[in-house]
Amino acid sequence: MKILVIGGGGREHALVWKIAQSPLVEKVYCAPGNPGTADLAENVSIRVDDLDKLLEFAKTNSIDLTVVGPEQPLSLGIVDLFEANGLKTFGPSKDAAYIEGSKAFSKDLMQKYNVPTAAYGVFTELDEAEAFIEKTGAPIVVKADGLAAGKGVIIAHTKDEALDAVRDMLNGNAFGTAGSRVVIEEFLTGEEASFLVITDGKHIIPLASAQDHKAIFDGDLGPNTGGMGAYSPAPVVTADIHEKAMRQVLRPAIDGMAAEGCTYRGVLYAGLMVKDGEVKTLEFNARFGDPECQPLLMRMKSDIVPILMAVANGDLSGLDIEWHDKAAVCVVMASEGYPGDYRKGDVIHGLDQAAKVEDLYVFHAGTATVANNCVTNGGRVLGVTALGNTVKEAIEAAYQGAACINWAGVQYRSDIGRKALNRN
Ligand code: AMP
Ligand code: GLY
Repeated sequence: MKILVIGGGGREHALVWKIAQSPLVEKVYCAPGNPGTADLAENVSIRVDDLDKLLEFAKTNSIDLTVVGPEQPLSLGIVDLFEANGLKTFGPSKDAAYIEGSKAFSKDLMQKYNVPTAAYGVFTELDEAEAFIEKTGAPIVVKADGLAAGKGVIIAHTKDEALDAVRDMLNGNAFGTAGSRVVIEEFLTGEEASFLVITDGKHIIPLASAQDHKAIFDGDLGPNTGGMGAYSPAPVVTADIHEKAMRQVLRPAIDGMAAEGCTYRGVLYAGLMVKDGEVKTLEFNARFGDPECQPLLMRMKSDIVPILMAVANGDLSGLDIEWHDKAAVCVVMASEGYPGDYRKGDVIHGLDQAAKVEDLYVFHAGTATVANNCVTNGGRVLGVTALGNTVKEAIEAAYQGAACINWAGVQYRSDIGRKALNRN
């Protein structure tokens, strides 16, 4: 089988790594890929939003299955386009990907199908948004409606911060059209978990539990990022929480999408807030989480290809996923300045040393090859991911790997996975 993976971040490196291990696969392509995927696949220099070129490539090369990593091509309708051309594709349709593409749509879906979530309002008019903030008070959360690369969420600790945020989005041009409609919602407290499932729109296979670390600094301080590290399994997801997440969140959301005429096929990612034995839904994503994908795929024992193919064929019945008992931890190494403006082009040292650590894999995210050197080329640069018998052992191994690697201005959190240890 020939498989095309679309994307070029850590998530896509992990997907290529896992797919390339399948005995069913003879060749993997990755568009555009990165220096990490180049070791396992043939990189194809086509941007993720250039749907016409991607389609032409898939047709010309008789691709048997296309796996879409990031949200942007999903929201642009890549799955609809490929399917209309008879190509098997893993991912939700454009209409189904709206569950991530519009926070207002997603909140309205949750409300309609009784999925527990924070109380909220949706606004396009500044005076109404301001009045809502004045009435509700702080802390309060302001979210750009559209895609904003994980940065369109402002946790406002004071009314003034919230008012500034809505003015920037509705009056100014923060986040462009993504910010021309806002969701303002109740501030929730608790512990977050990333709950991912694979679905054909009817059958649901939950993936192993995971937890992300959104904030840039240790102790969950500083601004939010795309994710500074993740681990699996996450003990916050007890058997009871798992059952509630499936019954109260994933099942009604997936049935609701079908009832709305936009059957959801692919990975559905629910960001959950867990508190006092109850779950509330922060958001849905129409794709694998990044970096959650890295530890999850390292723990996946089953061949992923038959699962991806079954979803593309619209029938997951009879399939299941087996997991390694080991835990996995991914530490994201980022460039100086991230999540703001960051440096690029610094030479990365120590990748060979890190590769010698047992049960460890360094997934590339924002890297490039320049004059035979691997250099930084993005905010999140590497995802150093390790297996261990316990979360504690996996943390130690991941940090042993990270300690081998260095570049000017490198930054990473030193407390990835600590929440899991604090529970024991
Ligand atoms: P979202 O993209 O909607 O998941 O928001 C990104 C991050 O912002 C989440 O992972 C949370 O850390 C935080 N967040 C979002 N909504 C809320 C909320 N209602 N209360 C508290 N924190 C939130
Ligand atoms: N790690 C969070 C996300 O992928 O949205």
